[in-house]
Amino acid sequence: MKNILITGGAGFIGSHVVRLFINKYPEYRIINLDVLTYAGNLENLKDIAEKDNYVFEKADITDAKRVNELFEKYNFDGVIHLAAESHVDRSITNPMEFINTNIIGTVNLLNAAKEYWKDNFEGKRFYHISTDEVYGSLGKTGLFTEETSYDPKSPYSASKASSDHLVRAYKNTYKLPIVLSNCSNNYGANQFPEKLIPLSINNIKNNKTIPIYGKGDNIRDWLFVEDHASAIDTIYHNGQNGDTYNIGGINEWTNLDLIHKLCDIMDVKLGREFGSSRKLITFVTDRAGHDMRYAIDASKIEKELGWKPSLQFEEGLEKTIDWYLDNQKWIDNIISGDYEKYYDQQYKNR
Ligand code: NAD
Ligand code: TYD
Repeated sequence: MKNILITGGAGFIGSHVVRLFINKYPEYRIINLDVLTYAGNLENLKDIAEKDNYVFEKADITDAKRVNELFEKYNFDGVIHLAAESHVDRSITNPMEFINTNIIGTVNLLNAAKEYWKDNFEGKRFYHISTDEVYGSLGKTGLFTEETSYDPKSPYSASKASSDHLVRAYKNTYKLPIVLSNCSNNYGANQFPEKLIPLSINNIKNNKTIPIYGKGDNIRDWLFVEDHASAIDTIYHNGQNGDTYNIGGINEWTNLDLIHKLCDIMDVKLGREFGSSRKLITFVTDRAGHDMRYAIDASKIEKELGWKPSLQFEEGLEKTIDWYLDNQKWIDNIISGDYEKYYDQQYKNR
């Protein structure tokens, strides 16, 4: 049995990756390492928690001793590293957590892999999951390719860029067998309602205002989270050693157009008068240093590995909205506690 470490497996994308691997590869033992920050939630994995090939380890990647102990205990064959602080707005308020987890935490994992695998890198793989935000911000035209120079603009993207550089440095210096991917904005079930889509779904449902930063003309390229998980599966198994793959939805939307679409679908689902949810839209003070546009050229992964997004955006949005409407308890558990405080701090003076 191969032992695969997945970090951040209790978070949004990580939980979809863990589920995919647990169900698709019974011959792998999946060890989910997660410290369970506000964004980590074991409820995301309750359907697979009792499977024989699943193990949960509550641990902090900034704790090098603990990371080393886990490498010693499980003798991992591979690592898929997703654990991170992931929200740009929080990185503006509190950059140090991003430096610690995203940079120091990644180096702790790299050091452990280098140390425990050094006698034989054969068959080993360290897969680092990153974001398109490391490339900075696009104007009206152009796409991010794997060759685009890094130009991160927020503490979040700078911390992810830094971790990407370190992963590549360990390949160059120590020959660590690595692979990386940089993905566009994900949406789907289990996303913490601090990000645009789940926050808006929750607010529409509760007849609360929908805060749109600036004019709502910033553009993002949206990918359904299960498509990201399938890309990660493809790259983990078939990606070239040392290579980077961009993953994207080929699906660009201004924030305002996206929220209009979301409002219209929700009016139908909630049996409200058409146009009533759009009235909740409120333009608020822009995010500091707000990146204008992200868009991915995903041709390399399609050409070399045969992966492309499977879902149309309308279908993905419907599935996502249905999941949030059907899982009120999941939302209630999140919203009790620190979420209210976060929401007040983030939005009250905008
Ligand atoms: P998330 O915030 O939903 O989940 C992060 C998970 O990491 C949580 O379970 C959290 O408990 C865990 N974690 C945080 N700090 C930790 C620590 N110190 N030790 C152990 N575990 C820790 O994030 P997500 O949206 O699922 O993103 C996962 C990864 O994918 C991140 O690396 C992110 O940069 C990357 N990514 C995200 C997106 C997106 O749209 N969400 C797009 C591209 C890339
Ligand atoms: P977000 O979901 O935070 O992802 P990212 O910043 O990583 O792209 O934000 C997506 C877009 O939506 C981004 O342009 C910022 C904007 N936004 C709002 O307009 N209002 C909000 O309340 C949030 C959270 C985001």
